[in-house]
Amino acid sequence: MSTIPRHLAVIMDGNGRWAQRRRRPRMIGHRAGARTVNLCIDFCLETGIEALTLFAFSSENWGRPEDEVGALMKLFLGALEREVDELDRRGVRIRFIGERERFAEAIRARMAAAEVQTASNTRLHLTIAASYGGRWDIAQAARSLARDVAAGRLDPEAIDETLLAARVALADLPAPDLFIRTGGDTRVSNFLLWQLAYTELWFTETLWPELDAATLRRALEDYASRERRFGLTGEQVAGTQPRENNE
Ligand code: IPE
Ligand code: IPE
Ligand code: MG
Repeated sequence: MSTIPRHLAVIMDGNGRWAQRRRRPRMIGHRAGARTVNLCIDFCLETGIEALTLFAFSSENWGRPEDEVGALMKLFLGALEREVDELDRRGVRIRFIGERERFAEAIRARMAAAEVQTASNTRLHLTIAASYGGRWDIAQAARSLARDVAAGRLDPEAIDETLLAARVALADLPAPDLFIRTGGDTRVSNFLLWQLAYTELWFTETLWPELDAATLRRALEDYASRERRFGLTGEQVAGTQPRENNE
């Protein structure tokens, strides 16, 4: 098994605290955090990670103070305007997962345009989770199956894990191998609930705006040292037979 994760999923957390420690408004932290996104993409391109999924804005983040949500939307739109051409040039395919209907039309149009522009790129599959929640994701997959049942296209008895897995976000990518959360909190915060079932989890106190390549390398080293058993025994995974007890 490869020791480099094929798919890395990241919760980019700690922007607000990074700014507050500098006695600056939270928004300054979000702006600094946007630069770390580029660093993380560069790191994936350099190490040969095939897919990167970044949690940028959760379903629950809509509940933040209006001025912070407004400023984040401006930052998001600005990043879409600024970064897409360069990412395209570097062979990055960009896609978005989440409840798009909640975004303003200008942002939705930019998101769709970025997806079309980069659709044939294959060097790195970048997915931005925005207005995304793991529970929303599973609910929309269930709704999509229910529609097929109601239309007579699907027998409810045929619904199994494989069929549901095909309707949740990221269905065309391998499941995330490694999950990284910055900012010191050790929780999943409604990120990819279905997709993370067997992902290796790695947490760091480092706040997102100060994340560097050395810390990302440490996460990869830790990942490489782990044995992923997927419910099997260590011997099965190693491909060796367990020693007989009476030997
Ligand atoms: C993560 O940083 C970015 C978003 C959730 C949009 P936070 O804004 O959550 O930063 P902290 O956790 O308050 O420090
Ligand atoms: C998770 O961070 C969401 C994103 C990074 C986009 P939060 O800051 O919203 O998570 P909680 O509220 O601390 O769990
Ligand atoms: Mg946070």
